[in-house]
Amino acid sequence: MGPELLSFLGLAALLSHSTVNGAAVKSRDQPMPNATTTLSTGSWSFSTFTYPSPTPNRYATPLVSPLAIPTKFAPPFSQASTLLDANITYTTYSLNPTATTASNDGQYGQGAFARLWANASLSYRDQPPFTTTVSPTPVPSSELVFPSPLPVQPLGQSETANMRLPSDFVWGVASSAWQIEGGLQVEGRGPSVDDSIGALPSTANDSNVNAMFYYLYKQDVERLAAVGIPYFCFSIPWTRIVPFGVAGSPINQQALDHYDDLINYSIAKGITPIITILHYDLPLAVPYSDPAFSRHFLYYAKQLMTRWGDRVPYWVTVNEPNLQPVDNALTNILIAHADLYDWYKNDLQGKGKITLKFANNLAVPLDPDNADDVAAALRYQDFLLGIMANPLFLGKQIPETVLKTAGIKIDPISSKNLALISGKIDFFSIDPYSAQYVTAPKGGVSACAADPNNPLWPTCVETTNVASNGWLIGDASYVPFCFVAPQYVRYQLGYVWNTFKPKGGILVAEFGFPAMGDTYKDLDGQRYDLERTCYYQAFLNEVLKAVHEDGVRVVGTLAWSFIDTNEFGTFEARFGLQTVNHTTFERTYKRSVFDYVDFFHQHVSQ
Ligand SMILES: *[C@@H]1O[C@H](CO)[C@@H](O)[C@H](O)[C@H]1NC(C)=O
Ligand SMILES: *[C@@H]1O[C@H](CO)[C@@H](O)[C@H](O)[C@H]1NC(C)=O
Ligand SMILES: *[C@@H]1O[C@H](CO)[C@@H](O)[C@H](O)[C@H]1NC(C)=O
Ligand SMILES: *[C@@H]1O[C@H](CO)[C@@H](O)[C@H](O)[C@H]1NC(C)=O
Ligand SMILES: *[C@@H]1O[C@H](CO)[C@@H](O)[C@H](O)[C@H]1NC(C)=O
Ligand SMILES: *[C@@H]1O[C@H](CO)[C@@H](O)[C@H](O)[C@H]1NC(C)=O
Repeated sequence: MGPELLSFLGLAALLSHSTVNGAAVKSRDQPMPNATTTLSTGSWSFSTFTYPSPTPNRYATPLVSPLAIPTKFAPPFSQASTLLDANITYTTYSLNPTATTASNDGQYGQGAFARLWANASLSYRDQPPFTTTVSPTPVPSSELVFPSPLPVQPLGQSETANMRLPSDFVWGVASSAWQIEGGLQVEGRGPSVDDSIGALPSTANDSNVNAMFYYLYKQDVERLAAVGIPYFCFSIPWTRIVPFGVAGSPINQQALDHYDDLINYSIAKGITPIITILHYDLPLAVPYSDPAFSRHFLYYAKQLMTRWGDRVPYWVTVNEPNLQPVDNALTNILIAHADLYDWYKNDLQGKGKITLKFANNLAVPLDPDNADDVAAALRYQDFLLGIMANPLFLGKQIPETVLKTAGIKIDPISSKNLALISGKIDFFSIDPYSAQYVTAPKGGVSACAADPNNPLWPTCVETTNVASNGWLIGDASYVPFCFVAPQYVRYQLGYVWNTFKPKGGILVAEFGFPAMGDTYKDLDGQRYDLERTCYYQAFLNEVLKAVHEDGVRVVGTLAWSFIDTNEFGTFEARFGLQTVNHTTFERTYKRSVFDYVDFFHQHVSQ
């Protein structure tokens, strides 16, 4: 496979398409002469000028609903409930800040709940504008009109035109609760580690209001179904289900009812739910490093799986744990993941699939002919993926590159734990937004790896987005880690496939692009999101080649995200396939969502 460049401006395509019916047409290679000379030298002619006839509107095809679930993925709750401790308390909480001192109603009473929030010292500038679920309305057909055909096509698209993806290809959209829900303190939700982002006195965008998905989920599901998106990955916040976070503490009945309805509503509209159990929003009381992390995590996760295991075919246990600092907490997370996997398969008898998703922008050696750069790139990959994927997929120890780094705070995994973790995953999930170049540092990797005070420690590599020929890796976005760089998609997938040999395949669990200019555009301008849609089309075109030319099993792709999200303190990094108006909470489809759907209609076998 060789790197290919996206013909990003697509000038040739634009010019060849921009002919006006009946008007004189010529090749762009010659200077524009006057009519007399060209008529006398050849192919020019005059005719009567007319405007083009309007093209009939194309409309999005909604999903067929309800979803027919072919098999139950686990026993129904009436049977599965026997797996839950009989002594669990189910209750509801309502945050009353004055109850902190007044109410002394026990370890897990309303007073304790108020003290939990008071202790977290979080207050928000904005309060949710509404506090009940909004009834959905059908999406008017005027919103479902396709844009004109994309004027820019990825390079090599003609080669992929006949390439097909299997009919069970998991294509859709991804999201996470904290980034869209708002209403952080409503209906008994306890505080999470993310909640200080956007809280006073910070001036960042307020996560307490956000896109208000918590009360607008029906409308959002309706909108996904109306444009025909078949898979929707969302996360459930641990602290909504278990407000105090810890094993043995009460379960919030209101949250169970809420997510039951979100799941049922998705299915009723023809959408298959994919659930992320933990997407960063840990309870304050349960850090990853807690020796009892697995016990607390399973206490929470069993609530989800016993209730919804019958209807949910895919579960993501933990989102991007590999971005945590390199220490034993990573192994703790793997143990919790494996414990839950075992419980799901053996105790619940679940027939669905379980994964855990990794962040990774592939490290590409700055100079692929330089052995030091190649070693540096592979070392970076070891720190990002090998550290968790070696034990999980291969039953292998954490890479030596990591363990031999001086001052590293991660121990080798015991053989008992390796046996527990090994193979406890059904397919590989990765969020490969983009790639980056990596080079060995000036003093060499070894000197840095021996010196915990080196600023590049522990990965000990230099990263850059500029290639050795001086050119940026690809079109830049609002965030420093995301570029239109389709030339590395096959390498990213090839690295994962050939290194970890995930027989169950690879899910691209997140990919997306927050265009720089969005912030300055009006609504019409934001809707016509050419850069984002180029990113998706070019990326997906490379996925086709990875599948058909490289033999990589890709089982699905989930776009990040279905609406503009709160990117951990800012609404300005807009990854959405739809915009959100933060005054009216109205959503608007962008053109990328139509092009995204079109791609799969063309390439997924029926
Ligand atoms: C076309 O260009 C030629 C060469 O410049 C010139 O002699 C001729 O008069 C022009 N004809 C018209 C109709 O402008
Ligand atoms: C509830 O039951 C479990 C398992 O039977 C036990 O471990 C736990 O201590 C009990 N909790 C309380 C509060 O009694
Ligand atoms: C209060 O917060 C502190 C640190 O933020 C934590 O150590 C302590 O356990 C918390 N106490 C309660 C009752 O949550
Ligand atoms: C989000 O923050 C930016 C930058 O501080 C600000 O311009 C914008 O108005 C904020 N948006 C909302 C909806 O609060
Ligand atoms: C959701 O669907 C399940 C299974 O069909 C059903 O048992 C449950 O009552 C439904 N929940 C709601 C809120 O309708
Ligand atoms: C949000 O909606 C309001 C009311 O319709 C409108 O005035 C405002 O311009 C919209 N904001 C954006 C960014 O489109």
